[in-house]
Amino acid sequence: MSSILVLNGPNLNLLGSREPAIYGTATLADIRAICEEAGARAGLAIDFRQSNHEGVLIDALHEAPGRHAGVVLNAGAYTHSSIALRDAVAAIGLPVVEVHLSNIHAREPFRRHSHVGPVALGMICGFGPHGYALAIEALGAHLTG
Ligand code: DQA
Repeated sequence: MSSILVLNGPNLNLLGSREPAIYGTATLADIRAICEEAGARAGLAIDFRQSNHEGVLIDALHEAPGRHAGVVLNAGAYTHSSIALRDAVAAIGLPVVEVHLSNIHAREPFRRHSHVGPVALGMICGFGPHGYALAIEALGAHLTG
């Protein structure tokens, strides 16, 4: 069975209690369960990870080729600030689907720009945890082509 990496960036470990009016009350463990269900439907094993550290996220992307067929990435605030993360996405040669729980285009102006977007296969935002399931379904369809 092919597998995909679901990689979560800074502060997403606090989901459930973090600004629930914006991010809802689902925890990262709840999102992991959603991803595993979506992966089972798509025939994809899920390697689900989170880090608050930019370099750890970059290392996880570097290690993905050969292990994973694609990546679902919620880079959190690094989306808007990290050219290094953008370069890692561009470097690995795997399809990467960018996900955000919130609609980043309906929030503060500094969230409207994504460094990841131009090198991603596509982007899903604004659908809360269901966005992860949508991303896995879309990645599965892309991979089976
Ligand atoms: C987020 C949106 C980012 O702007 C923010 O910094 C996050 C979460 C989202 O999932 O909506 O940490 O990526």
